[in-house]
Amino acid sequence: MKKLILTTVSAFFMLSANAQTDVNMGIIPAPVSVVKNAGEFTLDKSVLILASSSNSQITNMLREFLQAKGITVKVSSLKTPTTATQKVIILGVETEKLDKEAYKIVIKDNRVRLIGAQAGLFYALQSFMQLFPSEKVNGVYAIQNVEINDYPRFSYRGLHLDVGRHFFPISFIKKYIDVMAAYKLNNFHWHLTEDQGWRIEIKKYPKLTEVGGSRNGTIIGVYPGTGGTDNEVYKGYYTQAEAKEIVAYAAARYINVIPEIELPGHGSAAIAAYPELSAFPERDTFIGKDWPWSGPRTGKQVQQTWGVFDDIFVPSENTFKFLENVLDEVIAIFPSKYIHIGGDEAPKNYWKESAFCQQLIKEKGLKDEHGLQSYFIQRIEKYLNNKGRSIIGWDEILEGGLAPNATVMSWRGEQGGIEAAQQKHDVLMTPSTDGLYFDYKQSLAEDEPLTIGRNGKGYANYAKVYSYDPVPKVLTEEQKKYIKGVQANLWTEYIETPAKVEYMIFPRVYALSEIAWTPLAKKDLKNFSDERLPLHLSKLDKMGTNFWVPTAVGQPEKEVTGENHVVTLQVPVTGAKIFYTLDGFRPSENAAEYISALNINVPQGKKKILKTIVITPSGKRSVVAETIFNNGFVDVKVK
Ligand code: ACM
Repeated sequence: MKKLILTTVSAFFMLSANAQTDVNMGIIPAPVSVVKNAGEFTLDKSVLILASSSNSQITNMLREFLQAKGITVKVSSLKTPTTATQKVIILGVETEKLDKEAYKIVIKDNRVRLIGAQAGLFYALQSFMQLFPSEKVNGVYAIQNVEINDYPRFSYRGLHLDVGRHFFPISFIKKYIDVMAAYKLNNFHWHLTEDQGWRIEIKKYPKLTEVGGSRNGTIIGVYPGTGGTDNEVYKGYYTQAEAKEIVAYAAARYINVIPEIELPGHGSAAIAAYPELSAFPERDTFIGKDWPWSGPRTGKQVQQTWGVFDDIFVPSENTFKFLENVLDEVIAIFPSKYIHIGGDEAPKNYWKESAFCQQLIKEKGLKDEHGLQSYFIQRIEKYLNNKGRSIIGWDEILEGGLAPNATVMSWRGEQGGIEAAQQKHDVLMTPSTDGLYFDYKQSLAEDEPLTIGRNGKGYANYAKVYSYDPVPKVLTEEQKKYIKGVQANLWTEYIETPAKVEYMIFPRVYALSEIAWTPLAKKDLKNFSDERLPLHLSKLDKMGTNFWVPTAVGQPEKEVTGENHVVTLQVPVTGAKIFYTLDGFRPSENAAEYISALNINVPQGKKKILKTIVITPSGKRSVVAETIFNNGFVDVKVK
């Protein structure tokens, strides 16, 4: 009898871990419409792919996917005659009425039809691969008959990576792009220049990478630091050939690569290479008055610590010529309509001190240094507009007046985006205040690694990301049209390795994809976290990709009062286990395993602490999650 119950329980868990049983067929981001029908499509070796040669790239991706599942399929032209019992997967037909990125999947009568053109067909394939069962049942892969209609909410769905603070190899950049492609993100914002490193080869200015691509040390621990730097040379850059390789790799996955060349601030690496770009070329690099580092302070240097630095580009004709030459080479590498020119965190102290800058302010009839920044950005915008490109800038470009055609990336909250939309400018929402900064930690547990935004500030778990709506309610219907999309940013001050990048983006990138793609009315956190997240994280677990293991689903985050409590938990990763303690000790696999709902009874005047840990099949661990059940307990030490 006991065995029977256990078998039923595991059958239940298997069912709930199956994409087919979920209303969204396990797909992230949730499609606009999923209608399941009776019957199923079973794949066997007789299955044929019918596709035109114009879709050969996507056809090959499907063939490789099926090959990895042990199914070798033949590919034939669309006109190949087939019988009613022949299993076929048809790619790319009947696309006339579909919008650019829209697609349909129709599975019925022994046919899978992936309907869409270009990006649409690519997205149909992504969804098909996600709904494909992870296991055979009775020796076959079976997919429930279904009709899916889908298209994106926003045209811009972005993910950013800072390679200035830490450098990541081309092989990993491709992996990052693969993640974006699988989740229908379509703009990779590549943050290529920083105070701590210039990472893109510019042939006209070789010192940008020879000098600017290398720093003599990296701050140890938390900024502003107490332990100096590690005194180790840290360097790296992408050749133009490598950058072009990334552009092509991304394009094959319908992803646009937006390069960011930061100006006028965050330019220490370029200034170290070419000091004349500074208002004070002879002045040593200022590395912070509280900075205990005792190394040499002579000359300009690539920064070894984090933060915001006063030594920004001087708006001289020499600087503009330099930037135009740099941008010419950047444009030749990146076909993106948008070039990101930064514009954030540019302190005006050097411009205030500089006689040249003050004279320029007078000559140009500008109000102040903010006006000078606006002049700077507008000149660069004009140059790029004349080359057929448009600029994106961080929301500081609003200060002193927006450049006429600029798109604003709102990062210091939503206000910049709101103002830009009110001024009829396009807006991309990426507010650090709403979970879109993936360098922030994912829980308040002590187990978290070093991140930016400590002490509780800048904490954002996937649920917070999920709850964000990029369209501010204060805007009118007309103004809302200027919100073109949403992006998450990954700044890498405290992210040194690909494994940590993965830890920081998963699972939040899933939530990002859903807020970028799925219609508001279809968003459903419970379905996301209970049904689909466990499936997707389980795939990562099997692939050996690193990720932040969510804590047990259903555990209250805060203190709970009262006497009797029933706690029902669910695993956030299919096949994972939850272990718990109620004795104050840290749980591990040696603790009690959570099997069914916990009844927690707390006598009057006492408290109990539930501590849980999730351990995945591959052995990855969540942080320890704590809930205090307090029934009138008063801490005498506190009293
Ligand atoms: C930014 O985070 N400084 C754009």
